[in-house]
Amino acid sequence: MNSRFLEALKGQNRGDPPIWLMRQAGRYMPSYRALRARYSFLELCHEPELIEKVTLLPVAELGVDAAILFSDILMVPEALGFEISFDESGPIIHNPLSSPFDIDLISELSPDRISYLSEAITSLKKRLKIPLIGFAGAPFTLATYLIEGKTNKTLKKTKAFFNRDKESFLQLIAKLENAVTESLLLQIRAGCDVVQLFDTWAGELSEEDFHLYSLAPLKKIQERIKATKKPLIYFCRGSSYRAPLIAKTGVSAISIDHHRPIFSVRREVKTIPLQGNLPPEALYQPKESLKKTVDQLLQSMRGDPAYIFNLGHGILPDVPYENVQFLVAHLTQKR
Ligand code: CP3
Repeated sequence: MNSRFLEALKGQNRGDPPIWLMRQAGRYMPSYRALRARYSFLELCHEPELIEKVTLLPVAELGVDAAILFSDILMVPEALGFEISFDESGPIIHNPLSSPFDIDLISELSPDRISYLSEAITSLKKRLKIPLIGFAGAPFTLATYLIEGKTNKTLKKTKAFFNRDKESFLQLIAKLENAVTESLLLQIRAGCDVVQLFDTWAGELSEEDFHLYSLAPLKKIQERIKATKKPLIYFCRGSSYRAPLIAKTGVSAISIDHHRPIFSVRREVKTIPLQGNLPPEALYQPKESLKKTVDQLLQSMRGDPAYIFNLGHGILPDVPYENVQFLVAHLTQKR
């Protein structure tokens, strides 16, 4: 496969940077909203044909350089026996962990509980001419959902949990680390070319806790993925500040958030592939100023053979669709 995204992940892209966008298939797209009028989010996530259809929307409509499997980080906890639903405010876990004893009840990931992913991937690989990215939530971020029961930016219960009982929390992280690795390996076996770990909430951790609960498991996951020779990209909020620490784990690439200019991050980590980091809110800008913002970012990373254009976090559901189209067209038109 001739792909500038894969070349950039090897640090060998000689042309303009590749582009894909976190949450590139979602509610900002009229075609996605039309599908959501007919199916619930969980139906879209469970049915191989629908997964395939949604994964392909941004590929066909925008012309991005990589597809990302349409799914959610909570599909792994669901396969482990947690009851998950989604409403307007986000995910809800109906049987969250209420005591350290509950951790013993979590079983190993049984591959047939996520076989719908393999089915979708196999079929997608027959149709795609660009790389397919598989993904999972990182153990720490999954643990926050299992303990909080929903999105809670303060992570109050999670922090109380690991401060009261560090050993049990580490046991939970170890179980999730295994399940996440199994899920990524299953996606790779089915045909994914690249995998990404989403550790959205790790930025809330002190440096010491970040080492314990995010970097240590990342290192172990990385070692097992390395055997497949497929690149593993790591994203967390706070990655723009912690890139040197993340790079030391041996991960293949880092997805950089938008809190610092990516060229400043590049000065600290010289060779590792970097992905990012247009602020998601920049897509609210009128096209003229959006173009200026994007050109500034492109100029700052010009000639970097290990740079992948992306946002600093996922696309917001209410940005104008035509601005996203404009962004991708602007990056790909000169090829
Ligand atoms: O990037 C992609 O296009 C692939 C699809 C993808 C989704 N979720 C689809 C989705 C990916 C990679 C995710 C990851 C994910 N899910 C993360 C980590 C990345 C991040 O954004 O921080 C997290 C924390 C979740 C959990 C989750 N799922 C939340 C907090 C929400 C609600 C917030 C929201 O955007 O609605 C979801 C729901 C969700 N996941 C939607 C989509 C398209 C919206 C569901 C709908 O259609 O109603």
